[in-house]
Amino acid sequence: RGWITGNLYMYQGFWHQSMRIISIETVMALQDTFKAHPTDIYLATLPKSGTTWLKALVFAIVNRNRYKNNSLSTHPLLISNPHNCLPFIETEIYRHTPTYAKAHSPRLFATHIPYISLPQSILQSNCRLIYLCRNPKDVLVSMFHFANKLRDKSGSLLTFEEAFELFSNGFMPIGPYWDHIKGYHKVSSEHPGKVLFLTYEDMKTDTLNHVKRVAKFLGYPFTEKEETEGAVQEIIRLCSFENLSEVNKHGNLREGIPNDAFFRKGEVGDWTNHLTNEMSQTLDRITREKFHGLDISFN
Ligand code: A3P
Repeated sequence: RGWITGNLYMYQGFWHQSMRIISIETVMALQDTFKAHPTDIYLATLPKSGTTWLKALVFAIVNRNRYKNNSLSTHPLLISNPHNCLPFIETEIYRHTPTYAKAHSPRLFATHIPYISLPQSILQSNCRLIYLCRNPKDVLVSMFHFANKLRDKSGSLLTFEEAFELFSNGFMPIGPYWDHIKGYHKVSSEHPGKVLFLTYEDMKTDTLNHVKRVAKFLGYPFTEKEETEGAVQEIIRLCSFENLSEVNKHGNLREGIPNDAFFRKGEVGDWTNHLTNEMSQTLDRITREKFHGLDISFN
């Protein structure tokens, strides 16, 4: 029901669904066949944490010189969904033809796979990884709307109470939510040069400095000249919710997945319009317990 259809399987501490993109079969297939390159860049997230935004930003940062002299209208982010510009490794291994991302170095990929289940090839290579997370209440709200928008027309609507029960008990795709974050947070604390840990809230509050931070971490720092000429602001505008939601107003990413499903409100704190006080306190308590002693907070 809702975002859980069919059986759930626990693998290395996380819930997977059969025949879905994030399934044990996919994790195994990647483990066996995926070959990371040392120059690769990976973006890891839980669904509904700002993946689409991060994809757009990283694509725009890394490729900024490629499109500098072209007319702006040819920039891929002005004509295509960020998910087409920067694919998930989970879908990439099933493709027969190489995508744009495969053709250039650095290759850019995203993943929802928990750190513990990432292909060994990625863990052992020198590639860099950015992890973006978002406060649990907004992830829950975003997931709730996404699930209802994409539901099989024969299926019934998920109520918010049902979504809350599923989420708080750890049942979200690739959940539990808290464990996914903890896995990446640990490795970013131990190896800050390999994993950059970001929150959606910090990105929203101080986009300028975070875009610069991401660029520097990836080895694509903005020059003084670029900063003076407003290159950072230009990327922020290109990847803004307003711009991307306009570009993706029509069409489908894949059958049954409209482009506009990835752009709803793009705000921090919409949970206040959905959660009761009691629900909010329950999630606060779980989050406090799960993140106890860890330096993880949402602005
Ligand atoms: P809301 O449902 O709260 O609006 P993901 O990309 O991981 O699926 O996450 C989707 C969430 O990110 C949605 O949140 C969506 O609106 C928001 N989002 C998409 N593009 C964004 C952008 N350019 N800036 C900020 N938020 C964005």
